[in-house]
Amino acid sequence: MKILVTGGLGFIGSHTVVELQNKGFEVIIIDDCSNADEKVLGGIEKITGAKPIFEKLDLKDRNKVEDFFQRYQDIEGVIHFAASKAVGESVEKPLLYYENNIGTLIYILKELSKKNKSSFIFSSSCTVYGQADEMPINEDAPVKEAESPYGNTKQIGEEIIRDTCKVTPQLNAIALRYFNPMGAHPSTEIGELPIGVPQNLVPFITQTGVGLRKELSVFGDDYPTEDGTCIRDYIYVVDLAKAHVVALERLLASKNSQNYEVFNVGTGKGSSVLEVIHSFERVSGEKLNYKIVGRRPGDITSAYADTTKANNVLGWKSQYSLDQAMKSAWEWEQKIRN
Ligand code: WQD
Repeated sequence: MKILVTGGLGFIGSHTVVELQNKGFEVIIIDDCSNADEKVLGGIEKITGAKPIFEKLDLKDRNKVEDFFQRYQDIEGVIHFAASKAVGESVEKPLLYYENNIGTLIYILKELSKKNKSSFIFSSSCTVYGQADEMPINEDAPVKEAESPYGNTKQIGEEIIRDTCKVTPQLNAIALRYFNPMGAHPSTEIGELPIGVPQNLVPFITQTGVGLRKELSVFGDDYPTEDGTCIRDYIYVVDLAKAHVVALERLLASKNSQNYEVFNVGTGKGSSVLEVIHSFERVSGEKLNYKIVGRRPGDITSAYADTTKANNVLGWKSQYSLDQAMKSAWEWEQKIRN
């Protein structure tokens, strides 16, 4: 069965392609390589023994999208990762983000709406909850006003899919709200490849560990948490990838009574920035050079998932601990720097 994975050369996309191929799906990747490398295909092939079909294509080109779906009429499901994801950049260039993340989503949904039956999975984010009033956060928590155009594209994206599903019964969709993905494939053939200075905590830690950065700045230790640093739900990327496969299987089997559903994908456990640092120190056996600095504007105090819905409805649960995920991130970082 043919599945299209847009952004399939990226961090979460590539790990999902591996899990799909391991389950026997035939994968076609579309990527414009703006934030990914074709070499990732080689890593996927080494792990799974099969090279996915790859089309370098810019999804902003409506004619090309139409032509693609004409050529591959037997695609039965789409997992849509392709999007711009730098929060800071989205504040500077809002139109770029709306065009990249919303325009492309509309083009794909238009093509899927022409089919007799199709399944669609959208990469959403816990960012839609903002600072939730209650922890852990379940899917019924209100969606808060977005802090950035990037966050807004996830909210609007979900609304577009919901509204399209209402009038398109043959379209079956799931939005997965990711918490904080981290780690790399245990084979160290694929992993995260941040461009420039990483904005996210885990790649910054491993780059500091390997000597690429002098020290980690911990953004604030005066939050109302046990150790004063912010709390997040760090989910191992392979666990996250597997959530896509079970969500896709649910859509393909049409087991759901509604044709649009939303699921949190996290571990259910919150970890503070200092706990993440200590995890790194445990698994690497090295002291991390860090200093406490002021808060980062826009950061929320705490976000971790209530995963009951994904556990019960998808039958999915994260398997890896923070230390196991950190170990994979550290092995990957050491491999790519040597
Ligand atoms: C985690 C914690 C920082 C870097 C990201 C995306 C967001 C959403 C969720 C996207 C925070 C602290 C970080 C550093 C630090 N996902 N930190 N020093 O803030 O949860 O947001 O994931 O779809 O859009 O931006 O993740 O990794 O940036 O930060 O102290 O150098 O680490 O303050 O508490 P965040 P993050």
